[in-house]
Amino acid sequence: MSTTPKILCIGNPLLDISTHVEMTIFEKYGLQLNNAILADEKHLPLYKEIIETGTVEYIPGGAAQNSARVCQWMLNTPHTVCYTGCVGKDANGKILADATAANGVLVRYQEDPVEPTGACAVLINKKERSLCTSLGAANKFNISHLQTDVMQSIIKGADFFYMVGYFLTVSPDSAMYLAKHAAEQNKAFIYGLAAPFLIQVPFFFERVSALLPYCDIVFSNESEAEVLGTKMGWGTDLKVIAEKLAQWEKVNSKRSRIVVFTQGADSTIVYDQGKISTYQPIKLDSDKIVDLNAAGDSFSGGFLAAYSLGKSIEKCCEAGHYAAMEIIQQNGCSFPSKRSFDLE
Ligand SMILES: Nc1ncnc2c1ncn2[C@@H]1O[C@H](COP(=O)(O)OP(=O)(O)O)[C@@H](O)[C@H]1O
Ligand SMILES: [Mg+2]
Repeated sequence: MSTTPKILCIGNPLLDISTHVEMTIFEKYGLQLNNAILADEKHLPLYKEIIETGTVEYIPGGAAQNSARVCQWMLNTPHTVCYTGCVGKDANGKILADATAANGVLVRYQEDPVEPTGACAVLINKKERSLCTSLGAANKFNISHLQTDVMQSIIKGADFFYMVGYFLTVSPDSAMYLAKHAAEQNKAFIYGLAAPFLIQVPFFFERVSALLPYCDIVFSNESEAEVLGTKMGWGTDLKVIAEKLAQWEKVNSKRSRIVVFTQGADSTIVYDQGKISTYQPIKLDSDKIVDLNAAGDSFSGGFLAAYSLGKSIEKCCEAGHYAAMEIIQQNGCSFPSKRSFDLE
């Protein structure tokens, strides 16, 4: 067992309520495939409706928690990865903690005494998914948790920090705190853009823009990358966007920024050290794909595992593609107990 976790992941711990639905439900609630939103008033009946009318599966979720579990699974040595976020004092919080700990992740949740553990409706239609999140207790994460002795010792001991954009709606000061710590100590701060709304909504984009100068690696899928390109006035050519983002404002000049854009079954675009490279994911017959939920999260988890071992970017992408290949053959972010990938 690793004594101090090498990697700290932070995010919104959510219980995924996963179900296959017809397109009518997307229309009814104004949801889109391949998108992720936060629930507002009009989405509240959705949770009850899917639970009462369909077959639902409860699966541990939350983007950064998925990546943490996958990264830990790839690395194998228990407690190499620590995950934190806020849950409620309820049965769902316990389900999440147990499932994540069972993967070997050191779980260090903050607990909110009032709000319920967050939930994410995962609506699947022909393998594509739409996410609608009710944050609940996850929204109560507070920087005071990072100031506890337990978390301070984990932060000081970690060399890699991983976070995705969703957390910026919750506790931007916690995000900035970790990002600044990483820059000051020349540690790696790794970030995923997560969803278009974080770039499109000016209130959130202000937070994203404040954080980006601290990001050493940025992950994104093709649609988020395009939205960012448009927002920044960089156009829609993904290779150009990758280069511009890599060269954009940076606080820690000791590390040059690496930008990684996945594109589903198409090749992953990487900008690193002044050049663009592309890497092909593992081809899968479509009948082998169960659902594409958490594909991007698993890619990041696999990439992060190899990166934390100092592997080449090519190897990191291979590890990411391998992890994604395993996860999309199962429901939600689940994986076989044994991995067949050599990180060496
Ligand atoms: N249809 C697919 N066939 C094979 N691999 C896929 C497919 N969709 C996703 N993947 C794998 O998952 C990774 C991330 O998928 P992507 O769709 O880009 O992320 P996101 O889930 O963030 O949209 C890809 O780089 C690839 O390795
Ligand atoms: Mg995708």
